[in-house]
Amino acid sequence: MASVAPGGKKGLLGQMFARKSIAQVQRETETSELKRTLGKWNLLLLGVGCIIGAGIFVRTGSAAALHAGPAVLLAFVVAGIVCAFAGLCYAELSSTLPVSGSAYTYGYATLGEFVAWVMGALLLLEYGLAASVVAVGWSGYVVSLLADFGIVIPPHLTGPAGYTLMRDGAPVLVDGQTVTTIFNLPAFLICTALAALLVIGVSESAKVNNIIVAIKVSVLVAFIVVGGLIVLSNFGTLSAANWTPFIPENQGPGQFGVDGIMRAASIVFFAYIGFEAVSTAGQEARNPKKDMPFGIIGSLVVCTVIYMLVAAIMTLLVPYNQLNVPDPVAVVVDNFGATWGWLAKIIKVGAIIGLTSVVLVLMYAQTRIFYTMARDGLLPRVFSRVHPRFKTPYINTVLVGLITAIAAGFFDINVLGDMTSVGTLAAFAIVCLSVIYLRKNAPELPRGFKVPLYPVLPVLGILSCLYLISTVPWNVLQFFLWYMVGGIILYFVYGMRNSNLQHGEPQDDLPDLPVYPEDADEVRGEPVIRP
Ligand code: ALA
Repeated sequence: MASVAPGGKKGLLGQMFARKSIAQVQRETETSELKRTLGKWNLLLLGVGCIIGAGIFVRTGSAAALHAGPAVLLAFVVAGIVCAFAGLCYAELSSTLPVSGSAYTYGYATLGEFVAWVMGALLLLEYGLAASVVAVGWSGYVVSLLADFGIVIPPHLTGPAGYTLMRDGAPVLVDGQTVTTIFNLPAFLICTALAALLVIGVSESAKVNNIIVAIKVSVLVAFIVVGGLIVLSNFGTLSAANWTPFIPENQGPGQFGVDGIMRAASIVFFAYIGFEAVSTAGQEARNPKKDMPFGIIGSLVVCTVIYMLVAAIMTLLVPYNQLNVPDPVAVVVDNFGATWGWLAKIIKVGAIIGLTSVVLVLMYAQTRIFYTMARDGLLPRVFSRVHPRFKTPYINTVLVGLITAIAAGFFDINVLGDMTSVGTLAAFAIVCLSVIYLRKNAPELPRGFKVPLYPVLPVLGILSCLYLISTVPWNVLQFFLWYMVGGIILYFVYGMRNSNLQHGEPQDDLPDLPVYPEDADEVRGEPVIRP
């Protein structure tokens, strides 16, 4: 593949589409300062830890109540298929380019620097903003559990700025007045606390993560077993009452009918985000070629099965229009009957623990993307500085903690969730495109895993992602477009001017030395490699 000649003069387009050579990307893997501590089951758990979260515990409720009814099950199928297309493309790219930085790095080595930058901006939505969404979901379950024990957090500190606090479809009244929320304090606090944990180090964080994933999955399995037995004992009556009609009649754009299912698919798509986070851990995987595809596809399959079962039980046991609540899974358990009251509390605790792990993994992924971008000179180099003792990119972790905490503290979960879905779908479409590009331009590269039915699946991946984006409300799309315009301006103002690639960093003859010196404050224009 072509690469930029060291120190060569390039036109604007030449700069925007400058690519890292595959050899360089692979060599950076070998010279990373990060420790290789993650095996294939760690990666699968990392994926499951990231995938199961606010999507199933929170957003499924409003997707069913407002958009799809019981047919939210079909929305999971649609979103799952879209993710499978993208997941297979991720698996191929990650088995070809086992590096940190995920879709950002894939973009850099295939479609060039500008696309890599755009990817960086999209991934900030996918990981950074998603962490905020999950933190808001976490806050909903915490507020609800504390209320069960008679502990009340001041209601105006439990929601985004400027919203009327609602419960069960009606405004909450305190002293006869509606409550306008000003700040989501629990969501803010969980983001800052987890940023501190991530500063301490990945191996500690991964161990904690494994335990938490086990708890989260156990809680959902308990829900499925108990709920499943109740449903099976009374399936005829329940399906007549709550699944008839299975697809409620369309009531307007995005409201029920087939249109509503597609809108719900773009919402529950959020529930699948995370399987590709495995690929961001490329530099910390022991055997990336084999283990990355295992981690990505394996975690996607496990979660799809769990989601279908949970959604079926939810919509069979509770009429869908009662599910638009902050803690829908707990509300469904309340319907198991009085004997199961204790389970509702356990499920809330499990959800809280589980959501904690998702925020942790999403923030972790975001810090690694910033780390890689800073190493490439596209972000200030201080963000690639590694803590001498903890071996973590501590300065950028603090930044990620602040961004996610502020978004979680002040913004509405639905807007944040839709922004996350749109950004992620756009990133997935580019990943599918990268697979096609790489197959055409570098067919000789060894690939640990290949997308089956090429090129049909990557093309379907691109089209289906674009279609789901089109189902999101126009105000969110406008917000997204402005965000991207801002990001692109920043590329021309900062990224392009400071990128290593634009400053003649050697591409194909790097010495076998640490790529990044202890002192990250490199002189601009100098290659970052010390001879
Ligand atoms: N898939 C993750 C969740 O549902 C982001 O919370």
